[in-house]
Amino acid sequence: MSVSSPSPAMPEASRHSLPTRLVHAGLAVAVVIQLVVSLVMKPAEDGHAGNLWYEIHEYGGLAAFALIVLFWLVLTARKRGTPAGLLFPWFSGARRAALWSDIKRHAATLRQLRLPPHDDASPLASAVHGLGILLITAMAGTGTVFYFFGGGDAHTGGLPGVMLQIHEALANLAWAYLIGHASLAVLQHLFTDFNLREMWSLRTAPQKETRK
Ligand code: HEM
Ligand code: HEM
Repeated sequence: MSVSSPSPAMPEASRHSLPTRLVHAGLAVAVVIQLVVSLVMKPAEDGHAGNLWYEIHEYGGLAAFALIVLFWLVLTARKRGTPAGLLFPWFSGARRAALWSDIKRHAATLRQLRLPPHDDASPLASAVHGLGILLITAMAGTGTVFYFFGGGDAHTGGLPGVMLQIHEALANLAWAYLIGHASLAVLQHLFTDFNLREMWSLRTAPQKETRK
């Protein structure tokens, strides 16, 4: 597995398309709000109305659901960006083998107490990003099913009750993903040639793409 050689930081030539960057930014903000608000909200249950934070969690969650659906549409329709096979390597033997050797490569670098170099096409990083998409789809999906079928009571039973249990069971994973993913992005920005603006700059029409 080759590591892409360091390229000069070139924020206006992002490999992520503008729709990817816009939806990613909206989703990241929505998920941060959802996680922080979940710490102070009181859900509606047993005949008691929820507090204002809970209402924010409901509407923020529905917005997150719309954004993750949009993310899937962008992933399917876009012509530039991480290939779907890198994000979801689970169905191909060759992809899984590449993932395994990338895991070993990362482990060897970490054993030397060094930060792995940034690699645009890293099978490990991409697979983790794919799992992040599935995780946030599950969080927003379970919450949305509960919203429409749970009768507005967090102590509901049946399918909406099971959905809420899954929602709560996955909550810590969502925290872990956010903290791990954002910290690694910042560390790579500080200590490698990777530039956070690759994903966070909203400038349109990267020059490298438009010049022919
Ligand atoms: C929990 C909310 C978030 C989710 C679900 C999420 C998801 C993703 C996904 C799926 C990708 C890969 C996109 C692709 O290759 O097409 C990605 C890339 C990226 N994310 Fe996030 N993200 C979140 C929050 C954040 C935050 C808060 C930051 C801020 C540091 C961040 C920084 C980045 C960067 C810099 C990349 C590009 C990595 C690269 O080009 O190698 N993300 N994110
Ligand atoms: C990406 C979107 C979402 C994220 C990241 C998220 C995150 C969380 C977290 C971290 C908790 C706390 C779990 C615990 O401490 O046990 C929680 C609880 C909850 N969420 Fe969400 N949520 C999302 C979407 C939604 C949506 C769309 C709804 C419904 C409209 C919803 C309804 C609830 C309810 C009712 C609880 C309280 C469960 C209880 O304590 O009984 N969530 N959510």
